[in-house]
Amino acid sequence: MLEEVVATRYVTPLREGGSLPGIVEADDLGTYVMKFTGAGQGRKTLVAEVICGLLARRLGLRVPELVAMELDPVIGLGEPDQEVQELLKASGGLNLGMDYLPGSIGFDPLAYEVGSAEAGRVVWFDALVNNVDRSWRNPNMLVWHGDPWLIDHGATMIWHHNWPGAEASAAKPYDASDHVLASFRPDVAAAAAELAPQVTEELLTEVAAQVPDAWLVDEPGFVTTDELRRAYVRPLLARAAGVHERITLGKRTERPASRAPGWLTEPARPWPHTAGEKNEDGSAR
Ligand SMILES: Nc1ncnc2c1ncn2[C@@H]1O[C@H](COP(=O)(O)OP(=O)(O)OP(=O)(O)O)[C@@H](O)[C@H]1O
Ligand SMILES: [Mg+2]
Repeated sequence: MLEEVVATRYVTPLREGGSLPGIVEADDLGTYVMKFTGAGQGRKTLVAEVICGLLARRLGLRVPELVAMELDPVIGLGEPDQEVQELLKASGGLNLGMDYLPGSIGFDPLAYEVGSAEAGRVVWFDALVNNVDRSWRNPNMLVWHGDPWLIDHGATMIWHHNWPGAEASAAKPYDASDHVLASFRPDVAAAAAELAPQVTEELLTEVAAQVPDAWLVDEPGFVTTDELRRAYVRPLLARAAGVHERITLGKRTERPASRAPGWLTEPARPWPHTAGEKNEDGSAR
């Protein structure tokens, strides 16, 4: 099971997230981004976060550490926003915590470079778990201390929404033409050669064992939570073997020129500026 901490203070909601995640402090003195069981997306989103987030970490990809967070909704009583109040009230018990990366900024494919080996590993991993949520519109990657980090694996493994069709669904190709790293010439063949042999039944079983029982109980068609855990292992194991041959990268291979603003790329002018100096267009500074 995931390490368990207790939420001690609700700090602030993260409005960028569709599921209204919040920044929450815990009794281990850590600060986490908390994803709530009471959110409209449902607890399967949290199962996907754990299985895919941990799997990526085991494969050496950068994903912030994950914990299970015990929430007593009473900690949100002072929260003025009714939507947040209701979310907290509906989420008593275990929720998901992801280590908060302070000072991180959203990944912009036009302002950052990613090597083709790393891009290949991320695209291959997203193909394995069928992540439909790492597009240039919504990258779900952060840059922290100069490195890209992967977040938000809630919209993966579409097959867990329809178990009877899971095997057929897991055999399907992966369209990466909208992937945020598609233009970095991802070397998916090299990534597959490196990563696919590591995705063993043992590794997947160990990762599935980390999901709290509370998010797995009473799944229609399954008698025990361990039976459901095994159902997560099978499609991923089957997919690891050959998914790289079924990845479409599309035509977006040329990267447009950087649109990083001038103040980021040009050397700074000495300060203070001399009075009367003119900008290049003749306007006063
Ligand atoms: N570990 C983290 N450290 C710092 N900021 C984070 C972290 N995780 C998420 N965020 C911030 O919160 C935002 C929302 O997070 P996330 O994408 O996981 O939520 P979501 O509700 O699943 O979002 P959506 O479904 O709208 O993509 C991110 O875009 C990012 O700005
Ligand atoms: Mg997101």
